[in-house]
Amino acid sequence: MTQDEAKGLVAKRATEFVKDGMVVGLGTGTTATIFIRELAACGRKIRCVASSDASHDLAASLGMSVATLAELPELDVYIDGADEIAKVKGMGFALIKGGGGALLREKIVASAAKSFIVVADSTKMVEVLGKFPLPVEVIKMALPVVQPRLAALGLNPKLRQAKNEAGPYLTDEGNYILDCACGRIEDPEKTAAAIRAVVGVVEHGLFLGMATLALVAGEDGVSEVRP
Ligand code: A5P
Repeated sequence: MTQDEAKGLVAKRATEFVKDGMVVGLGTGTTATIFIRELAACGRKIRCVASSDASHDLAASLGMSVATLAELPELDVYIDGADEIAKVKGMGFALIKGGGGALLREKIVASAAKSFIVVADSTKMVEVLGKFPLPVEVIKMALPVVQPRLAALGLNPKLRQAKNEAGPYLTDEGNYILDCACGRIEDPEKTAAAIRAVVGVVEHGLFLGMATLALVAGEDGVSEVRP
């Protein structure tokens, strides 16, 4: 099975967790995009809140009812992909997210949901987080202060560049992203706290203890992994 086939399989399975009448949070990224398309095709009577302009525009273009958090501040379920997923003793799932640049809105929408289903192909499951660079969203004017502080923490921060354009990548909220190729994250809570303590950091891509279920697609089909 290719990675794309696995993403398709898990996205389709995720639609079974969405029932008529629900308020659904839409993630961002390639897996979430397939999920949004599958969900639209199901024709469920739902309302949605999106975690990025891209997912909002896609869902609206497919005829889905998309609202803001101001209109729908409480969600039944948030469904999104991840860059890495680990099971950590005493914490449940620890995720790295933000490879697609939407980590801030993703974390906000996820935090407003009663449950968070993470959907992924099996390549995303890891023993220890950190092979994938950890994205950290930073206020633009704070970059000269934040980057050296994250470097001093040993996080090896690198300013993300926009694809096909000259200049840094900008998030939907107009911030920069520092991708931190820091290697193995043995203690995600400690790393999260150290990053959070740096003034000028808006949010980091560690989603700790937030996901309530992982749907993981591999050669044997889709497994439901509990925290
Ligand atoms: C978007 O900012 C990310 O958090 C994505 O959800 C995550 O990177 C997974 O994306 P893919 O499904 O494209 O791998």
